Amino acid sequence: MRLEIDKGRLVSEIETLASISDAEAPAVTRIVFSPADLRARAWLKARCAEAEAELVVREDAIGNTFVRWAGTDPSAPAVGTGSHIDAIPNAGKYDGVVGVLGGLEAIRALERSGFRPKHSIELLVFTSEEPTRFGIGCLGSRMLSGVLSPDAARKLKDSDDTPLDAVLEGAGFSGELERVRLSSDHYKAFVELHIEQGPLLEQHQIRLGVVTSIAAPASLRILLEGSGGHAGAVLMPERHDALCAAAELILVVENAARASGAPDTVATVGICEVFPGAVNSIPSRVRLSADIRDVDLQRRDAVMRKIEDAAQGIAERRRVSIRTEPLNADAPAGCAPVVIDALSESCRKHGLKFLSMVSRAYHDSLFMSRIAPTGMLFIPCRKGYSHRPDEYASPEDIARGTLVLAEALAALSR
Ligand code: GLV
Ligand code: MN
Ligand code: MN
Repeated sequence: MRLEIDKGRLVSEIETLASISDAEAPAVTRIVFSPADLRARAWLKARCAEAEAELVVREDAIGNTFVRWAGTDPSAPAVGTGSHIDAIPNAGKYDGVVGVLGGLEAIRALERSGFRPKHSIELLVFTSEEPTRFGIGCLGSRMLSGVLSPDAARKLKDSDDTPLDAVLEGAGFSGELERVRLSSDHYKAFVELHIEQGPLLEQHQIRLGVVTSIAAPASLRILLEGSGGHAGAVLMPERHDALCAAAELILVVENAARASGAPDTVATVGICEVFPGAVNSIPSRVRLSADIRDVDLQRRDAVMRKIEDAAQGIAERRRVSIRTEPLNADAPAGCAPVVIDALSESCRKHGLKFLSMVSRAYHDSLFMSRIAPTGMLFIPCRKGYSHRPDEYASPEDIARGTLVLAEALAALSR
């Protein structure tokens, strides 16, 4: 089998997909089920239709897209690969996209080499890996793995308060959410190619990372309610300013992570919405979202408790109400030895060094690991930058990652 990656076509596809965006280049914004996301999905399906391999496309009720290259034993469990194409506001071109277009190119390269899999190889494009629209990430893979039930999904509303069902209908998805969940024998294995989103590969000058575990994310929505009023007329002793309480709490979040004693604990407040948002009006309501992560579940949960306890203290002292709502609190995932071995062996076969590493970002693989032996392959991104417009992965690194992915898919699907 002589595997050759068509680097030129792959890179030009990444550029084209980046141009389907609601932000001005080089930034990419592609929120799930926005017109840009729907155009990107249509563009991708057209690429699958013109691929050298014969690919069958299916979409489920939450909009996950499955692109199947049938194996010689079509009823055997498939080998899955893939990632996401939705992008947070003001993002870069590579997060998720490398795993989707790299996965497609891996299948095309295998077909060109004359390889025929026994187990079907299935490219998966997950719906809403990013939490931007519905507040929780990995919507598609949570449902595929049964971590999010159809009833819980139906309760989700987007940032404009539109229920998920209505958003899905508007986007043209009408099937039953009950049918999204996959059985645990659907996949023999799942492997996701992704940019590292951190600086370690670059610092070690190693071009590939084989992931051994994925850190556990949790997020909290925090609603603060004080009392508003005239910024001139209400004197300071009478104030119950929701934003001042929020400011204290934001620093609690930062300090709780810093004080955990481990560099692996991170916490971020990335959303702060102030009502009514007028310069001469005391803030009466604030909505914060906090994101807390660690590779150690107990330590992560201790930080969550610290934030919740501090919130009650601030509420009493400032006489405002503070309500914390956990949106998700997921457990970390270990990658499966069978996938780690396939990826490591593929690197060795091509004479490539790799680093064994932890994924600090979360990925759809976190949830796929609940229903299939799962692993991930990382390529470097410049300075570790991600979730920003200057995110960059070189064509050589993208092609190298795609080659190792293709080799691993071949090994897993024989
Ligand atoms: C995924 O985008 C993450 O926030 O880790
Ligand atoms: Mn992302
Ligand atoms: Mn991603």
